[in-house]
Amino acid sequence: MRIAFIGTGNMGGALLEGVLAAGQAPEDVHATTRSGASASALRSRLGVQTTALDADPRANRTAVDGAGAVFLGVKPWMLADTAADIGPALPDDAAIVSMAAGVDLATLTHHFPHRPVVRIMPNTPSSVGYGVIALASAPEAPAAVVDHLTSLLAGAGLVVPVGEEDMPTMIGASASGVAFFFLLAEHMVEAAVAQGLDEDTARRAVAATAEGAGRLLADTPDPAALRGAVTSAGGTTAAGIGSFEADGFADVVARAVRAAGDRSLEMEAENRAG
Ligand SMILES: NC(=O)c1ccc[n+]([C@@H]2O[C@H](COP(=O)([O-])OP(=O)(O)OC[C@H]3O[C@@H](n4cnc5c(N)ncnc54)[C@H](OP(=O)(O)O)[C@@H]3O)[C@@H](O)[C@H]2O)c1
Repeated sequence: MRIAFIGTGNMGGALLEGVLAAGQAPEDVHATTRSGASASALRSRLGVQTTALDADPRANRTAVDGAGAVFLGVKPWMLADTAADIGPALPDDAAIVSMAAGVDLATLTHHFPHRPVVRIMPNTPSSVGYGVIALASAPEAPAAVVDHLTSLLAGAGLVVPVGEEDMPTMIGASASGVAFFFLLAEHMVEAAVAQGLDEDTARRAVAATAEGAGRLLADTPDPAALRGAVTSAGGTTAAGIGSFEADGFADVVARAVRAAGDRSLEMEAENRAG
């Protein structure tokens, strides 16, 4: 199936990288960006046809020509204009896959009437095949189309079908949530450096610790059990975790997960059409 990526920046590029690594033929992909610089960087990184809107105002319309699925990776507030631009050029049966954080299915369906519409919420580890891609489809989207998109996306990571009401939670837990892991890693590096470790060693040690923790979690998705296994009463881990708990870590995390989801709901209201 030919696919188009309209707006291929941090998230679109990561998702496309994962989809290509899983076997999508690069010659069946047409991507677009705004600037020539982004287009040439993407072309050399991923080897797909990439056209910049600055160089060709018809770039988005040309990219969707003949596409069976159109992935929208522009910023949420640009979606209405992008839909108006590509709408007349879309093949009749093209599926629309939006990754915009703040645009709900009703608004997508308003912008793309009579088309199968799917909303996804990926995260950036999609570029290395370890993404999490929450997926909610409009009720009118045929099951065969959703199944096909699900298998295409599975190359980029774990596809989690959800009802749209769970999208804000998935944003907090994985789409934005991946950055929360990076934030923890960032502060662990800072703390280690502040205590005298050289920065390169600290970064490599924390990155390897995160990778090891991730691999154990992938095998045993029970973080409390894994934590319990390394926490002896009166030991070093217990001291560190006691410090986290005394500072209200669980509440801090719960508020952050909720804040990300709440922001997505605000953005949905800002971007709502119809
Ligand atoms: N970043 C994440 O972790 C993440 C996670 C989940 C969902 N999302 C969603 O993914 C979408 C993109 O976010 P992002 O972080 O990837 O942003 P980004 O890095 O700024 O990427 C936006 C892309 O759109 C291109 N663009 C701008 N105007 C365009 C136009 N009129 N036609 C075609 N392409 C155009 C940009 O080109 P230039 O580079 O030339 O400006 C760039 O390639 C957003 O809707 C966001 O909500 C992001």
